[in-house]
Amino acid sequence: MTDVKPVEALSQAEARRDLDRLARQIAAANRAYHTEDAPGITDADYDALKRRNAAIEARFPGLKRADSPTEQVGAPLAEGFAKVRHDVRMLSLENAFELGDVADFDDRVRKYLGLSAEAPLLYTAEPKIDGLSLSLRYENGLLVRAATRGDGETGENVTENARTIADIPSVLSGAPDLLEVRGEVYMAHADFAALNARQAAAGEKSFANPRNAAAGSLRQLDAGITAARPLRFFAYAWGALSDPLADTQSGAIARLASLGFQTNPLTQVCDGPDALLDHYRRIEAQRATLGYDIDGVVYKVDDLALQRRLGFRSSTPRWAIAHKFPAELAWTRLEAIDIQVGRTAALSPVARLAPVTVGGVVVANATLHNEDYIAGRDSRGDPIRGGRDIRVGDWVQVYRAGDVIPKIADVDLSRRPQDAGTYAFPVACPRCGSDAIREAGDSVRRCTGGLICPAQAVERLKHFVSRAAFDIEGLGAKQVEAFYEDGWVRTPADIFTLRDRFGSGLQQLRNREGWGDKSAENLFAAIDDRRRIPLNRLIFALGMRHVGEVSASLLASHYHSWAAFEAAMTAARVGEGPDWAELTAIDGVGDVLATSVVMTFQQERERQAIDALVAHLQVQEVAARAPVDSAVAGKTVVFTGTLERMTRAEAKARAEALGAKVAGSVSAKTDYLVAGPGAGSKAAKAAELGVTVIDEDAWLALIGTA
Ligand code: IVH
Repeated sequence: MTDVKPVEALSQAEARRDLDRLARQIAAANRAYHTEDAPGITDADYDALKRRNAAIEARFPGLKRADSPTEQVGAPLAEGFAKVRHDVRMLSLENAFELGDVADFDDRVRKYLGLSAEAPLLYTAEPKIDGLSLSLRYENGLLVRAATRGDGETGENVTENARTIADIPSVLSGAPDLLEVRGEVYMAHADFAALNARQAAAGEKSFANPRNAAAGSLRQLDAGITAARPLRFFAYAWGALSDPLADTQSGAIARLASLGFQTNPLTQVCDGPDALLDHYRRIEAQRATLGYDIDGVVYKVDDLALQRRLGFRSSTPRWAIAHKFPAELAWTRLEAIDIQVGRTAALSPVARLAPVTVGGVVVANATLHNEDYIAGRDSRGDPIRGGRDIRVGDWVQVYRAGDVIPKIADVDLSRRPQDAGTYAFPVACPRCGSDAIREAGDSVRRCTGGLICPAQAVERLKHFVSRAAFDIEGLGAKQVEAFYEDGWVRTPADIFTLRDRFGSGLQQLRNREGWGDKSAENLFAAIDDRRRIPLNRLIFALGMRHVGEVSASLLASHYHSWAAFEAAMTAARVGEGPDWAELTAIDGVGDVLATSVVMTFQQERERQAIDALVAHLQVQEVAARAPVDSAVAGKTVVFTGTLERMTRAEAKARAEALGAKVAGSVSAKTDYLVAGPGAGSKAAKAAELGVTVIDEDAWLALIGTA
């Protein structure tokens, strides 16, 4: 490293030059690290550059650059990671909060499997680690890839970072040829405290909790930084496999341990809900002394053949549940109630609190849901919190449950200030002044300003560029806000005319802090990349109320092309006519969603914004939902009578997975009636209508599992 003056001896001008140089060197080192096999400088030199940069910034805070390298430490740099598609999706878990939920879980599992209450059924119980999940892929015993969960289907490639974690073996012996090990990356309490002390000493940001520290450390573009962070890993599950690990969950975990993974020592096999709850209490009693954060206990059906039969709902397995610990609570003063206006025009009240620590995290804001919640009643008008309303100046009880935004549970009337008046919920939008109205049956008051409301416009733009929508690299929430402020981008269509409006000079963008020629050019290229967009993403991006990713895909695969979708939505009228009938006949599209879409297309301003946008796009058609390759795909099936080789729930889930529609009653549209012993009126009706009636064995033969 070049000879440098001590920071204390620098003049302002020298400090400025030094910060410029350091920013360049650090950026170059980051680039070198990711594009070449060998980084340009050693980790120690890299750290020294960053330390000097931080020290100069601490002495001359006014000189801190907009693109300061210190800001980049610990911040997740999501853009930089390659995407990885998981062969086997990474799912989440359903939550249980009450004791009764555990018995319900056991009941549901038994019912699905057709087991009596007395039949033996084993579960495993183990701590739910509060970290972030990671999938490790081993091929022929070698670690070839590590990926974060991401959205469950696609994660980020963090292989180099994972290799720096001591608990993660890079070579396995005796493992299946293909093995994906899944588990949780976490940071122990002691390591977390030491890391925060180091960060503070270096003038860098400290982390709110061990989970954020673990996530921030794993998701570093510079694996050198990850290596310096004390991360750990517990294995608790698996993804793709060439050979089974064992017959049971507990056996599979033991196998992972024998391969060299850390598995949680508090994992135990339990013979029913009582034993599960005993173990839950045992783990809860040890929670404070474990040395790492856990937020509940996970129960899993032990027998893997039964796990396979139970299968999955859309994003969670039927064979597992997370029994969460109760939320953490604290009392503090409510200093103000602010109203935020969201993408769907909802006025959301936010509590501004005197900062208070709740379960180790400083909380200064909490959601107040809606005006009824503040007034102490639920959506039906029945009292909540004993009817106690919430007023500015009140002492309120704040709680956090898992990852969710803090909430307010209660209010202490004995400490209410004399002058605290009832809170008057605004009836005009605080951002644009338009009327804010509450429709019958809606618990939320909404701004009627539509796109003239800056709050809605910005939130809709943020949604438009979000990951599941247009996902434009370099154009995130922050940039959208700044561009909106400057008047450069007011509607989605404006994004696609940015380049033309800036001309080749790019002068204005270049003059903006943080934007150079290169980054501006990258942004325009990223925007151009998205001029071709799949129909489902476009529909989702429009941000219509009630239209989520799943329903956008349903609409796209039904109408296939933008032209067909647009024509149908333009022609449709709420509640009447063939277009409405077609729309609401789509499986998964109800009246509420359909009304929202049809109304959007009828509103002049919305319509103009949509047309202006689509003029810049080439919308890719979406093929009809990949037809499931089975003999029963597209058929309508009814089950009746007693099924002997599977339960009704299982039969239904399996039929649906194969693309069949399961109906409750026989009609002329029914293709098969599967009748077990004891079939009554349905069999008679089927005979009358000429519907094919088959028994359970014939059904199993038909679906290929006889
Ligand atoms: S099993 C198919 N076991 O909790 C189910 N998950 O809320 C796979 N987690 O995404 C998950 N400890 O990140 C499982 N012992 C444990 C866990 C655990 C923590 C996390 C995991 C998962 C999330 C679901």
